[in-house]
Amino acid sequence: MSYGLTVLGSVNLDLIVQLDVLPKAGETVTGGTYSALPGGKGANVAVAARRLGAETEIVAVVGNDDYAVQALVNLDAEGVYLDAVKKVDAHTGLAFISVAAGGENQIAVASGANAAFTPEHLPKLCSDVLITQFEIPINVIEAALDGYKGYVAVNASPVCDGVNAILQRADLIIVNEGEAARYDLSGHAGLIAVTLGAKGAELRRAGQVIAVALPPKVDVVDTTGAGDAFAAALTVALAEGQSEQDALDFACAVGALTTTRLGTQTASPRRAEVDRLLGR
Ligand code: RIB
Repeated sequence: MSYGLTVLGSVNLDLIVQLDVLPKAGETVTGGTYSALPGGKGANVAVAARRLGAETEIVAVVGNDDYAVQALVNLDAEGVYLDAVKKVDAHTGLAFISVAAGGENQIAVASGANAAFTPEHLPKLCSDVLITQFEIPINVIEAALDGYKGYVAVNASPVCDGVNAILQRADLIIVNEGEAARYDLSGHAGLIAVTLGAKGAELRRAGQVIAVALPPKVDVVDTTGAGDAFAAALTVALAEGQSEQDALDFACAVGALTTTRLGTQTASPRRAEVDRLLGR
């Protein structure tokens, strides 16, 4: 079957503790509030894109366990196609996330089933657009891109070695400032979006800045997943044919709205909320 947007990536269950301050290395901080919410950079992108109106499938691997049931519940509820989600004999990916009062976070991931993803798990990919990130094995992404004819967006997170061929193939690369400094993107001919946190984002082509956007002012609760939602929104907006400036404004608004609520997928805005914020 063919879908407009394929998300190739991770599925995690996020085990979250909200604290006044983040612990330093070797320190214990008590008194936190616990939540378990669906996450994973791949799943977050899929839910964000779906909530913005894209026909979306996710290609992913989970464990044969109860964590998978919790991790997939939002994807299913939002109408993301799950036919290409395979189960393996490993625990579903788990992310241990601490969130401080100002919204800053720390994330440690036990990759589990995401690390057991192999090229044999891939279906034939025939969508118009594919978006991926680096929370699954790189050889799976390489295999998926081999012969893929559509538009490729890569959210180059978390920072990963040995991904030059993937970045060269990408029509759109999305990075934050820290990630941008860790990759050699100088010869890239496509679009590069650099997120700048509270300062917004810029879009570059062939080393030239072609659009800049400031995020709307919001009250930040949790910054987790804002980059995933931004990547989804920018990819969807460009695929819809929005101008580069409009697409960047749209993605910044989606990223900002995502920070106003706890969690990632649960915080991801729907189209109407974004349009209202942008006055469209
Ligand atoms: O980008 C945020 C995501 O990173 C979380 O949902 C967590 O699962 C980790 O993968």
